Amino acid sequence: MLVVIKKNFEEMSAEAAKLIAKLIHHKPDCVLGFATGSTPLGTYKELIRMHKEEGLDFSKVTTFNLDEYVGLPPRHPQSYHYYMWENLFKHINVDKRHVHIPHGMADDVEDFCDWYEQKIEEVGGIDLQVLGIGANGHIAFNEPGSSLGSRTRIKTLDELTKRYNARFFENPEEVPKYAITMGVGTIMDAKHLLLLASGYEKSDAIQATVEGPITALYPATIVQMHRTATIICDEQAASKLSRKYSGYLS
Ligand code: PGA
Repeated sequence: MLVVIKKNFEEMSAEAAKLIAKLIHHKPDCVLGFATGSTPLGTYKELIRMHKEEGLDFSKVTTFNLDEYVGLPPRHPQSYHYYMWENLFKHINVDKRHVHIPHGMADDVEDFCDWYEQKIEEVGGIDLQVLGIGANGHIAFNEPGSSLGSRTRIKTLDELTKRYNARFFENPEEVPKYAITMGVGTIMDAKHLLLLASGYEKSDAIQATVEGPITALYPATIVQMHRTATIICDEQAASKLSRKYSGYLS
């Protein structure tokens, strides 16, 4: 696991975008796993800039998103479909037939989850998966207690996650209770993990993820077992790492 500590959110985002762009240059038809939330927004902005100013070409790229709320239609402003189109896809030349985001309105969720897993397999797996991290240690919507071998499925949102996400909804009652999420096992199958974290509120989560014991109570800790995981965080998120001056600093 490589931990790269950058000065601030902007530098973290630029570094992450650079890594993604490098993969696209090297393998134009790569499969990218995308995340939502506030953390990757700067990375997406930089990828858009690279597309517009430097011709970064997404036309052959295939994408899979980590998760989606159950019960929110794609046009809902808080759905992750909406987020991805607004914050990235509509600004780049990705082929919409290559975009995959879990369908929060699927009639048969179980069937849909199986299909999603199959689809990832069919394209040869995810080359690089972008991840945020919850203050409670979740990755995607794999909340504390999630099986570390889990696959794409429906999950109940943790109370802390619902409270954190309530800021995006007019009424806290509107925060969905369930989500479809790639499982921890699905995420671990990606060839490269790129976990991003910014701000003091993520410092405990980063400390546990990098230095803590591996536990389902903190699903992000499984990243320690991945062969090619890169964590890019800013100084605030890295502030509780005990060994940052003896090998983590980049
Ligand atoms: P955030 O969410 O990027 O909005 O902090 C990350 C997450 O919950 O995975």
